[in-house]
Amino acid sequence: MFAPGSIWNDTDDQPIQAHGGGILYDQGVYYWFGENKNGPTFLSPAGLERVDIVGISCYSSSDLVHWRNEGIVLPAVVDQPEHDLHAGKVVERPKVLYNARTRTYVMWFHVDTYDYTYARAGVAISDRATGPYHYLGSFAPCGTDCRDLTIFQDDDGIAYIVFASEWNRNLTIAQLTDDYRSTGPAFIKAFSTPHRSKGREAPAVFKNNGYYYLITSGCTGWAANAAECAVAPSLFGPWQVLGNPCTGQQAECTFDSQGTFVLPVSGYEGEFLFLADRWNPSNLSDSRYVWLPLRMHAGIPSITWHKTWDFSVFRDSQKRFPGSEGK
Ligand code: DGJ
Repeated sequence: MFAPGSIWNDTDDQPIQAHGGGILYDQGVYYWFGENKNGPTFLSPAGLERVDIVGISCYSSSDLVHWRNEGIVLPAVVDQPEHDLHAGKVVERPKVLYNARTRTYVMWFHVDTYDYTYARAGVAISDRATGPYHYLGSFAPCGTDCRDLTIFQDDDGIAYIVFASEWNRNLTIAQLTDDYRSTGPAFIKAFSTPHRSKGREAPAVFKNNGYYYLITSGCTGWAANAAECAVAPSLFGPWQVLGNPCTGQQAECTFDSQGTFVLPVSGYEGEFLFLADRWNPSNLSDSRYVWLPLRMHAGIPSITWHKTWDFSVFRDSQKRFPGSEGK
């Protein structure tokens, strides 16, 4: 059973530390990667609440409810203050894809300085989902600054990055190179605004019935705001804004959370999980997870609050529950 906003313990009875995360489904196993924020929250010299980098956590599960801690698969660097992964830097929103061509797991994340002016994408690779991941370095994708990001693998194996650029004034959407380790020449700028505060961040992409959907948040730091969904026939657009996918009480603040990923539920075509973070800026390590069903109605996604829920909410979809394959 999911209990959005509650403390969620792993199979060792420890609170899960995988914030701003994403999920990789690989050979029947779900891997959840996220920011380990298990440290004290303090105000940075830039006046922003932060936790020093601990590393990127990985958890594994076969049912999406019970998660085993696979450890810190990309740890902070302790002894080189200039290193991108030094504890005093920022590493956010890790996402992992499997690259069949190179048989490697490729992780992308936002790398920054404490004042968010470095604004780069970082890439790390491993030959196992559970790591350890080897850091390749960071760069300015498409030659521009990069903050919140996600990556998405299409059915044809081509992968894309969606990232907040130009101080969040645009979302840049770029095709990755065949090895998923860099960006190629093709990209677009979408959701453009001249006002930095009116930009979009926290992108999450999913595909349904041949259409691409992109859910984003507004830019209000750790504070929750309204999500927005857009749809397009191609990741390169044209994007049409559909509006807020959340409905009911607290829809205007995404149920006091900020999206981070949308997961297609294996065995249930057209059913999705919306993954979000309920940030706690006074104690970031105690930020909670808000996972809710995302259901499609005539091509429009809808997310509603459930105090507790399980996969029986999808019962009318006449499909099997995850983990029940072959039973
Ligand atoms: C909003 C972003 O979505 C988060 O990942 C994080 O960078 C916070 N801002 C920091 O205030």
